Amino acid sequence: PAGRPLAGRTMLVTSGPTHEPIDPVRYIANRSSGKQGHAIARAAAAAGAAVTLVSGPVTLPDPPGVSVVHVESAREMLAAVEAALPVDVAVFAAAVADWRVASAGDQKIKKGAAGAPQLALVENPDILATVSKRTAGRPPLVVGFAAETQNVVTNAREKLARKGCDWIVANDVSADSGIAGGVMGGDSNSVHVVTADGVDSWPAQSKEEVARALVARIAAALKERT
Ligand code: C5P
Repeated sequence: PAGRPLAGRTMLVTSGPTHEPIDPVRYIANRSSGKQGHAIARAAAAAGAAVTLVSGPVTLPDPPGVSVVHVESAREMLAAVEAALPVDVAVFAAAVADWRVASAGDQKIKKGAAGAPQLALVENPDILATVSKRTAGRPPLVVGFAAETQNVVTNAREKLARKGCDWIVANDVSADSGIAGGVMGGDSNSVHVVTADGVDSWPAQSKEEVARALVARIAAALKERT
């Protein structure tokens, strides 16, 4: 029906940063407000989808009408994502930390004579690539995000192939992206939707508008497939 083009569909969205513990009081994190991911979850719910939002630590309220799973680390996010499958569409908007501390301590690391601690890092799972490459239960439509500071579309094409997803929504987060105040933590976004068929470059608009346009494009793609 008009206005609820995702009625009867299920959608998974990841949003926010992850926090990777160093010790009980310290962590490594990515800079992410969760605004774009949360806006997508909200827009999808408004379009009638049953939405699960897997969110890292953010200061945003849970979107109404959305089933929200709160996680801290990348490994917790992957587990929550896998628990939410199967879905019709998965959108990975989270800024996942690429590395975690190999052996996070149970006790606070003390300053002292030993000097600064040497943190050994290990790579986190790539949630988008893991889900995209599943043989069983891969969502029919998998959408990743890419924050780039240069060669935005070229890098997005390469990421599409490497991760195995269907679309990459690439945004230019460089200081000269033309968006006052910048994209990170800001309310506007200028994105390119890169698919196997080509590139759609959208004008700079609010993260809410990007979310609504993306949800409309997802609804059209799902309709075409069935
Ligand atoms: O490789 P890069 O971090 O630029 O890729 C960004 C895309 O991959 C985003 O969709 C992000 O949510 C996803 N990602 C992920 N797990 C990671 C790293 C990135 O799901 N460990």
